Amino acid sequence: MSTFWSLYVTVLTLGTIFAMGWLLIATRKGQRADTTDETVGHSFDGIEEYDNPLPKWWFWLFIGTIIFALGYLAFYPGLGNWKGLLPGYDYADNEKKIQFSDGTTGWTGVHEWEKEMARSEARFGPIFAKFAAMPIEEVAKDPQALKMGGRLFASNCSVCHGSDAKGAYGFPNLTDADWRWGGDPQSLKTTIMNGRHAVMPAWGAVIGDQGVRDVSAYVLTQLNGHTLPAGANADPAAGQKIYATTCVACHGPQGKGVAALGAPDLTHPGAFIYGASFAQLQQTIQYGRQGQMPAQALLQGNDRVHLLAAYVYSLSHGDEPAANSE
Ligand code: HEC
Ligand code: HEC
Repeated sequence: MSTFWSLYVTVLTLGTIFAMGWLLIATRKGQRADTTDETVGHSFDGIEEYDNPLPKWWFWLFIGTIIFALGYLAFYPGLGNWKGLLPGYDYADNEKKIQFSDGTTGWTGVHEWEKEMARSEARFGPIFAKFAAMPIEEVAKDPQALKMGGRLFASNCSVCHGSDAKGAYGFPNLTDADWRWGGDPQSLKTTIMNGRHAVMPAWGAVIGDQGVRDVSAYVLTQLNGHTLPAGANADPAAGQKIYATTCVACHGPQGKGVAALGAPDLTHPGAFIYGASFAQLQQTIQYGRQGQMPAQALLQGNDRVHLLAAYVYSLSHGDEPAANSE
């Protein structure tokens, strides 16, 4: 803020505080010293007022707030460009001077947060770094790592994948053996780090309504082994032909999916995140789907993502360490 506005704020703020103090002391002068039974003389609906002085404790409470305000304004920013005198504020516990992101010093809300982060980094950074140097399969067996990973999961992932990681409509289950983008440790880490954007094109305009019904029927009956609902007006054999020309490039000749494209296995009804009923299949195939897993690299950084990958890996790799970890 410019010098003018800085002075303006300072004069106005200090001026108000001193005016309050003056008002308090000036009005006290004219008051009697002791309590009395006399009233000030007016009556509101029969309610009268004693002509008593302000109680002492009240007076001192006012003085206290004025002293507090002046102290606060000395230590914290509040008077224009004044940064505050908070002693040693720019130092973390370890006596290393903190470089705040905006290059300035002294207390601000942002600095407070950055200082908190620097402290927790100093405290937990080495633990994260230790796990980040271990292979994910190993980390996935370490009770402490799983506890930390579980907490990260609860606060960053459970909104979409559920607190039990079992997923929901549109969000994959992370505890089973079905993976759209690969379930090996490195693929999991890549998924979480960089995110994924699946593109299932809309086929309605390409293969027509009948084509959508036929190929849905093919997925339902041949790939999933279900029976076609009565009156479906769909021909799985015609659907198979469409599949072989239109779908095979992404979902593979046996419908087992291609992890590099995030094209899911169409032979496990349990692996479908958009539903495997005849109606839901038609919906997906007609209009397409674009599932998005948000990248965590910037939010979490490598070391945390490493722990998260290990945690997710542990969910589908059974024999978790015995519950003696606590
Ligand atoms: C360009 C590659 C590509 C082609 C071609 C393609 N798909 Fe897909 N398909 C995908 C991807 C990627 C997904 C995952 C979408 C998502 O997760 O949001 C998907 C998802 C699906 C799903 C939903 C699975 C679920 O989890 O609910 C069905 C059903 C499906 N495809 C059927 C088909 C059929 C039938 C065809 C041929 C008409 C086809 N796909 C052609 C890439 C493709
Ligand atoms: C905003 C919702 C959202 C959040 C938050 C989210 N995810 Fe996802 N995630 C998705 C969606 C949607 C997909 C499926 C993408 C697709 O269609 O292929 C996915 C896919 C995945 C996959 C791949 C599953 C597979 O079958 O290959 C993994 C692993 C994963 N998420 C882990 C995580 C972790 C760990 C976190 C927390 C750091 C997280 N996700 C946070 C929405 C989310």
